[in-house]
Amino acid sequence: MRAMDAGVPSEQSALRPGQRWRQAVRDWAVPQAIVENAPEPEWSFEPEMFRWRPEEDAKQPVRPSRRRALEALPERGSVLDVGVGGGASSLGLAPKAGLITGVDSLETMLESFQAAAAAAGVEARAVLGTWPDVADQVDPADVAVCHHVIYGVTEIEEFILALTARARHRVVLELSADHPLSGLKPLWKALHGLDRPDRRVADEAEAVLVSMGLGAEREDVVLPPRTQEVTPELVAFVRRRLYVGQDREPEIAEFLRARAPQERRVVALWWPGAA
Ligand SMILES: C[S@@+](CC[C@H](N)C(=O)[O-])C[C@H]1O[C@@H](n2cnc3c(N)ncnc32)[C@H](O)[C@@H]1O
Repeated sequence: MRAMDAGVPSEQSALRPGQRWRQAVRDWAVPQAIVENAPEPEWSFEPEMFRWRPEEDAKQPVRPSRRRALEALPERGSVLDVGVGGGASSLGLAPKAGLITGVDSLETMLESFQAAAAAAGVEARAVLGTWPDVADQVDPADVAVCHHVIYGVTEIEEFILALTARARHRVVLELSADHPLSGLKPLWKALHGLDRPDRRVADEAEAVLVSMGLGAEREDVVLPPRTQEVTPELVAFVRRRLYVGQDREPEIAEFLRARAPQERRVVALWWPGAA
């Protein structure tokens, strides 16, 4: 038995990894009653949070995901970045990247990406839409990258097959070892009385890739603990993800101030492209 099966209930171990992934995405979904009673419309990704900050990036150690993309990227090669956000996943590949095509389902993210690419002097194209629905609007690239996107993707195999079909040399995924919002579990319990499930997303994704026979490889890195300043923006960001009103912000701020700096395990998964 693989180590990752250890904590999986037996009825789930009988499922294929792709089915198990789908089930895990469903189990992680916020109960409808909480969404319906939320004081604000459902949150979506905030461009400011995902803006490309080259000066901060330069202070960080180079992550395996970037090394693995760079080693497969020819000089002035092309990059496809699915779920590009503000470009943090691909703009670090410049100047080796000659062209970056960013795909995102949010127009505001694509605007942020294009502004950052222009500032960095990198040729960029933007494709608005949901992957893999828009895959046929995208030319094959030398390397496809996809960082911190698949956590909520139900049809994971289709998503991965479309990425593989649009990459000539390599596909590189970056994920958190645990779901990136796992650290908010104590707040879910305190504010909603809800026990959120464990999601070891990198293990779950790796199992899917192995079952697809793609020849995926993996490298983990533990990033230094990050002390985040508890700004009003951070408190509001967390509050929206907890579907509560502004009246709960003092409790949220207190929790964020009291928690120990978070160690983050980040995982790169990569495999050959098929374009
Ligand atoms: C957490 S952000 C990560 C952004 C960027 N990759 C990074 O690492 O900073 C996830 C981004 O993926 C986009 N996204 C999520 N699912 C998507 C899908 N199926 N197709 C296209 N974009 C998607 C979101 O709009 C958001 O901009």
